[in-house]
Amino acid sequence: MGLDVTDRISTGIPKLDQMLGGGFIRGRTYLVTGETGVGKTILSLQFILEGLRQNEFAIYVSLDERIDGVLNGALSLGWDFWEYINRGMFFPFEFRLFTSDLKRFGKESRTFVEAIEKIARGRPISRIVLDPISALALGAREEFIVREYLREIINMLEEKLGATTLLTCDIPTGSTKLSRFGFEEFLSSGVIVLGVVRFKGKLLKTIYVRKMRWSNADSSIYVFEIRPGEGIVIKEPLSEQLDTMELQL
Ligand SMILES: Nc1ncnc2c1ncn2[C@@H]1O[C@H](COP(=O)(O)OP(=O)(O)OP(=O)(O)O)[C@@H](O)[C@H]1O
Ligand SMILES: [Mg+2]
Repeated sequence: MGLDVTDRISTGIPKLDQMLGGGFIRGRTYLVTGETGVGKTILSLQFILEGLRQNEFAIYVSLDERIDGVLNGALSLGWDFWEYINRGMFFPFEFRLFTSDLKRFGKESRTFVEAIEKIARGRPISRIVLDPISALALGAREEFIVREYLREIINMLEEKLGATTLLTCDIPTGSTKLSRFGFEEFLSSGVIVLGVVRFKGKLLKTIYVRKMRWSNADSSIYVFEIRPGEGIVIKEPLSEQLDTMELQL
């Protein structure tokens, strides 16, 4: 499949599309990384919802939370995914990978890839989310096994399905690393970093584009809010916000 870097799809967040230089490149894999509770799942659901609203088909794989919990949480934001499930467009499921599977890297560990392939067969799946990818690798002792496993998954999704894929990755609180294992970012075409900054007794949620292949990306750090109905809403650059807060305080 050829890479047309001008063929872009919307993330579902207009400002983020702009920051990425026009959205995600269709058919590539992207990483959303950040500490726990910062909004990775919400961003990935917003990405899925954007596709569903354009009549695209989508798969969401929850790797740590119960899928009912995720869908009910989305309802609290005013997003009803059941409608799309009933229409046969959206395929959410949870997947637990056992340490024993990873140890026997090879045939057994491909169960995961096969599960996705089975759902995608005969259906024009265009968006896939794996949330969080880091959970796939828990229990694997050797780094190269995790790396090859993730590489295989990403290659399969890009080559066989041609879907645009969003991976989330949780990083330990306070860590300055971009990803859990330190190589997920190299496997992706772009990296979006979500964070929290503490400033004068207030917590601000932040978002920036750390890497974006083949694009003139905006590298500023922005402040965002999570609003019912809208999800992630990106506001002004962090630097401006800090100036205003200094004036107020
Ligand atoms: N209905 C809501 N209205 C406003 N904000 C909400 C609502 N539901 C969740 N949030 C915000 O979203 C945050 C959780 O977002 P999300 O579940 O996407 O985080 P995450 O990065 O996926 O976390 P984890 O790593 O634990 O999976 C909460 O901390 C809260 O600030
Ligand atoms: Mg999450």
